[in-house]
Amino acid sequence: MDKNEVVRIFDTTLRDGEQTPGVGLTPEEKLDIARALDKLGVDTIEAGFPITSKGEADGVKMIANDGLRAEIAALARATKNDIDIAASCGVKCIHVFIATSDIHLQHKLKMTREEALQTAVKHVKYAKDYGVSVEFSAEDACRSDPEYLVKVFQGVSDAGADRLDIPDTVGVMHPVAMYNLVNKVHNAVDRPISVHCHNDFGLAVANSLASVEAGAARVHCTINGLGERAGNASLEEVVMSLHNLYGRKTNINTKLIYETSKLVSRLTGIMVQPNKAIVGDNAFGHESGIHTHGLLNMPLTYEPLEPEVVGRKRWIQAGKHAGSHGIKAMLDQLGINVNDEQLKEIVTRVKDLGDKGKRLYDADLESIAYTVMGRVGDEKILQLVDMSIMTGTKVMPTASVKITMEGKTFVVADTGVGPIDAAIKAIQKVGEGLGNIRLADYRLEAITGGTDALGEVMVKVVDQNGLVASARAAHEDVVVASVQAMIEGMNRLLLKRKLVSPKVPMPNP
Ligand code: KIV
Ligand code: ZN
Repeated sequence: MDKNEVVRIFDTTLRDGEQTPGVGLTPEEKLDIARALDKLGVDTIEAGFPITSKGEADGVKMIANDGLRAEIAALARATKNDIDIAASCGVKCIHVFIATSDIHLQHKLKMTREEALQTAVKHVKYAKDYGVSVEFSAEDACRSDPEYLVKVFQGVSDAGADRLDIPDTVGVMHPVAMYNLVNKVHNAVDRPISVHCHNDFGLAVANSLASVEAGAARVHCTINGLGERAGNASLEEVVMSLHNLYGRKTNINTKLIYETSKLVSRLTGIMVQPNKAIVGDNAFGHESGIHTHGLLNMPLTYEPLEPEVVGRKRWIQAGKHAGSHGIKAMLDQLGINVNDEQLKEIVTRVKDLGDKGKRLYDADLESIAYTVMGRVGDEKILQLVDMSIMTGTKVMPTASVKITMEGKTFVVADTGVGPIDAAIKAIQKVGEGLGNIRLADYRLEAITGGTDALGEVMVKVVDQNGLVASARAAHEDVVVASVQAMIEGMNRLLLKRKLVSPKVPMPNP
């Protein structure tokens, strides 16, 4: 394949990705993800395996009829029924598969090699009669006899298959073996080749990249590497490696990678491991003093690619490995100006806490800084007096919050999609009169296990001038923790406003 040719991305998040144990998406959720994948620029969206359930077929139909730019594909076994149902969903591509390895033929399909070949040929023709593109997959291709595999690929090509896919169904290939197999098929059959690599030995991305080097035109991927067992090749890793390490192009708008990853993680309920390449929380996070020092002078010292390219931002963690340059940069970002002596003391305190195993958030760094600066003490401008929440399956969640500020009492109420949303919206009504202080970021984590778990809430608030403050609070009741964190965040922002520009008068709520 010409090195200037765009490598095509066949996204199977909604099919193989949805086969991740424990994942089940509604048709509407599938549609949301399909729209995001379309915006991201994938060439093909494998929307599902319609024979599996009515809901699955409904989801595929909704996606196929949504006017998306990407080619929409549906999976079908080499049977008339599967193909009829896939075609009835209105897709442009039917992905027909049958296993070709002796293990699958003998123990699953109970077919001879010749029977499997004839079944494949017959059903590729049958699918083609629907006037769609057909991508043919030889399931377990990598454990199949290579000569027989080529024979099957030649047979289905003659029957009209538009593309041939080589799946490493159980993820047993290594890059050299994958290169050789793709190269063999590429030289033997005149059809574009796709690869579909599973990650059982952590080699799915490496095997996909080796396949492209050997001439594969299309790579099957999933967002966040979701998929059966250890998953499939992760789209973000394949695409960024192709662009940055192999000098190849794709149609992916890389700036949308992170938001797509977040959406998929939220809707599937599968968290991304923090140290995952490209989309993990820590992929652009730095703590070590040596690294942050180098990075602040020249990001390339410790970053192989700019975070913005994949829609992210670099961040620095305060902790025992941190140095004064990193802490200073964090304080600058938080809008806190310190002198050299204060900085030294803040770094010492951060390291002491780090040595005790404490993980420090922005809110902790702010507290330490203000304590060292001796400006804040325990001053609280806003005080929570009381709150009451009403929620249920038939009533609209409603919150009423009583707050005092400089001797005056305010009672604010609002409704929301849940009790936390209602309470935060109510408090924001006070924030509106205080220079439009509102919630910019919210995170909830369970610190302990069980239904009485201590919930920890971290918030970031921002005002109309872009001044930001963070705070956190922990409580067995996550609504209380949320309210406490929000009020603390507003207090910190108000105090910071005094420190940053003491002459600006406090607005009245
Ligand atoms: O892993 C696999 O072999 C598959 C096929 C259906 C392509 O998912
Ligand atoms: Zn698969």
